[in-house]
Amino acid sequence: MNQPVLQGVAALNVPAYIKHQALINWVAEIAALTKPDSIYWCDGSDEEYDRLCAEMVASGTMKKLNPAKRPNSFLALSDPSDVARVEDRTYICSATKEQAGPTNNWIAPAAMRETLHGLFDGCMRGRTMYVVPFSMGPLGSPIAHIGVELSDTPYVAVNMRIMTRMGKAVYDVLGSDGAFVPAVHSVGAPLADGQQDVAWPCNATKYIVHFPESREIWSYGSGYGGNALLGKKCFALRIASNMGKQEAEAGGSGWLAEHMLILGVESPEGKKHYVAAAFPSACGKTNFAMMIPPAAFAGWKVTTIGDDIAWIKPGADGRLYAINPEAGYFGVAPGTNEQTNANCMASMKDNTIFTNVALTDDGDVWWEGLTKEAPAHLIDWQGQDWTPASGTKAAHPNSRFTVAATQNPVLDPSWDDPAGVPLSAFIFGGRRSTTVPLVTEARNWIEGVYMAATMGSETTAAAAAKVGVVRRDPFAMLPFIGYNMSDYFQHWLDLGAKNPDTMPAIFCVNWFRTDDAGRFVWPGFGDNMRVLKWMLDRIEGKAGGVEHLFGITPTFEDMNWDGLAFTREQFENITSIDAAAWQEEVKLHDELFDKLAYHLPQELIETRKTLQRRMAS
Ligand code: OXD
Ligand code: MN
Repeated sequence: MNQPVLQGVAALNVPAYIKHQALINWVAEIAALTKPDSIYWCDGSDEEYDRLCAEMVASGTMKKLNPAKRPNSFLALSDPSDVARVEDRTYICSATKEQAGPTNNWIAPAAMRETLHGLFDGCMRGRTMYVVPFSMGPLGSPIAHIGVELSDTPYVAVNMRIMTRMGKAVYDVLGSDGAFVPAVHSVGAPLADGQQDVAWPCNATKYIVHFPESREIWSYGSGYGGNALLGKKCFALRIASNMGKQEAEAGGSGWLAEHMLILGVESPEGKKHYVAAAFPSACGKTNFAMMIPPAAFAGWKVTTIGDDIAWIKPGADGRLYAINPEAGYFGVAPGTNEQTNANCMASMKDNTIFTNVALTDDGDVWWEGLTKEAPAHLIDWQGQDWTPASGTKAAHPNSRFTVAATQNPVLDPSWDDPAGVPLSAFIFGGRRSTTVPLVTEARNWIEGVYMAATMGSETTAAAAAKVGVVRRDPFAMLPFIGYNMSDYFQHWLDLGAKNPDTMPAIFCVNWFRTDDAGRFVWPGFGDNMRVLKWMLDRIEGKAGGVEHLFGITPTFEDMNWDGLAFTREQFENITSIDAAAWQEEVKLHDELFDKLAYHLPQELIETRKTLQRRMAS
């Protein structure tokens, strides 16, 4: 291969097994711009993972946890200013502003390229540039896609190894001219000669930028989660949602990239369904995906395909098939414990990277909700001594664990199947303390798309913004749709119109309604199986329900209450539809639709009118 020689730039040292000249040229070009001291091509081996982790322990970026308590596991503490996705610094730089739509930040591509050029010029000085090849989806699968991330932090390299199929084998799939999504990441903290590094370098200026036409990602200034692990939100949602729509525009079937967990649920008789469920960030997707059914559901099994993202394509039979493009979980730690998610606890018993949780005196980790009582002393996520009297959180509310899917004791046997799994249902859920009932089934595809499109949810700590504010979060995709949201609604409607008889059923849920004292009414977690069971019974034509304003809801008798003391009154409390609250709620639908007027599908406008007529009568 031709190894471009660039004046004053670190030697490229391309491994002989890489045969892709365009990729080599791109790496050379980015190296010439960012000027790293050295370039390292990741091979994805165990030896490499161990070595990079050891280097980060030596440099102070990570701590090795006590091997007797948490074998082969590490703790990283971020800079206190770099703890969540930065939605206000995230841009979709499509050719026109309309293509990005009113819910995305947009700057004209040429202007953004100029800004990025300035920021990235010399931004990797004093650092190593890691070349991280990865596949989203099973290697070589016809529905997988490849990306290469260039990053100046080894923290990204090791996390990407857990979160994706990362390493040498990707180059075999790429061959000499395969397509890949180029993703450039820098923490934006070049080191002058002899300058001492900090444990978590980052920059107060942050840009998370997507160019949908050229399918490029550029991320600057943050080392945290979705800002830095570019296979996740940037590629698997924002760029991939564009790819799915572009394929339909080019005459293909079109496909979906969604913020959804995928789970398998099998009855004691061996009948299996797969469902995909969209919830906003930090609303329990990992818990639902690993749910343990209550004792009354003896013989029922829930298994995980994925906990955060689904790529969904119509198969030859017209049904929708889903894969999990990721290979690991980057889950929220607080609230996770043996009661809420024992499978998750088992997944992270070893081989885990924790970020921003607290450190115990015996070298293990702790976070709020892990145990009823907090330990008497901890080192908190900011590296400070902490006691229960401190009055602060020991773990950051958006603290995370990164763990391979293969650690999950209830991993579905088909999780890695290149063909994907057929979906029987879509579930959409928001976090709403009022108004939205426990569960509603849409009467048809359009009504379901309307429900998902108008979904609202209280904000969480996953994004750097005010927490607990209700915002419209259509399809739980507000921060992740890489193009105009109205066109995205149309894409969903078109997919349903093409395959009207084989689309999954659509349900809308709300696990989060509270009583007058602000306590959750629904027990949630394993008891969500009761709702799931009603859905499956509906799909199989076995369960009743009653129609209300915007869909079908179970009666108390339609659900299985064995083993749970849940009264009819409580049930009524969380399934009731308060007419006045709904008058207010639909005003918010109108506000959203006004904002999305450009290209808003006529079907949704008609559904809104029908809802209005029903409410009036
Ligand atoms: C995530 C998120 O990290 O949605 O999955 O923020
Ligand atoms: Mn997510």
